[in-house]
Amino acid sequence: MKPQIRMAGGYGFALVVVATLVVVATLAVAGTIRPATAAEGGKAPPKQDWSFNGALGTYDKAALQRGLQVYREVCSACHSLKRVAFRNLEALGYSPEQVKSLSAEYEITDGPNDEGDFFERVGLPSDRFPAPFANDNAARAANNGALPPDLSLITKARAGGADYLHALLTGYREAPAGHEVPDGLYYNEYYASQQLAMAPPLTEGQVEYADGTPSSVEQMSSDVTQFLAWAAEPELEARKQMGFKVLLFLFVLSVVMFFATRRVWSRVE
Ligand code: HEC
Repeated sequence: MKPQIRMAGGYGFALVVVATLVVVATLAVAGTIRPATAAEGGKAPPKQDWSFNGALGTYDKAALQRGLQVYREVCSACHSLKRVAFRNLEALGYSPEQVKSLSAEYEITDGPNDEGDFFERVGLPSDRFPAPFANDNAARAANNGALPPDLSLITKARAGGADYLHALLTGYREAPAGHEVPDGLYYNEYYASQQLAMAPPLTEGQVEYADGTPSSVEQMSSDVTQFLAWAAEPELEARKQMGFKVLLFLFVLSVVMFFATRRVWSRVE
């Protein structure tokens, strides 16, 4: 066999290995796994310029803290956030002491104790956000028969993710002429069926932000959306950083391999 042909084979193998790894690492950076269940039927949500978009995107901690405040003061009246524990909030920039006093503001039902009874106790950092209703039936009964979904993974569970959530929260309008909206439902063109059982949850100036940011509907929606995007994917920053490091490593590796292969084969004549 001619050396040139074998040489091409050597490069070819190296290329396949490197290309495969590059694809895997790029997927890690981009996170291309898209939500499966779609809000089909609703208007496509406008794309927003979130700080966590892009290959090296990160969360805006101040926005996450404001979003937490919106969740606690508004959304938590109806929606649970079962997968988030108070101690996870340290990722938002809170100290362990701050998390401890925040969790102590909650009453947690625990048990059964030695007598078999459930009891109330003060929340601990290891507890998760308690649900506003005892069970789904109670939640439906309080909401005209509609179930407010748990929000822990909501940006993953809807097509459009964070863009959809923000569009939904700011997308309540007058129904167009000729569109009958039944009692107890509200018109929103971003929702799959254009009418949902959640009344517009945000109103101008509803929360008083700890950092003094004016609380427009747009601002509160943007903040709570970022907070819920974090809740659904707290590992996003680590994933992107790791993917980027792997890409960098692979780039250096392919340069080294290119010159090494050339050198090895340069002795064959
Ligand atoms: C007064 C109760 C109430 C409050 C407060 C409330 N919601 Fe809802 N929400 C509901 C109900 C009920 C539904 C179910 C609607 C339906 O099925 O038609 C719902 C549905 C949703 C959905 C699902 C939409 C979909 O695509 O299926 C999201 C997301 C949501 N709410 C987010 C929020 C956020 C964020 C807040 C806080 C800013 C909030 N909600 C405040 C009652 C509430």
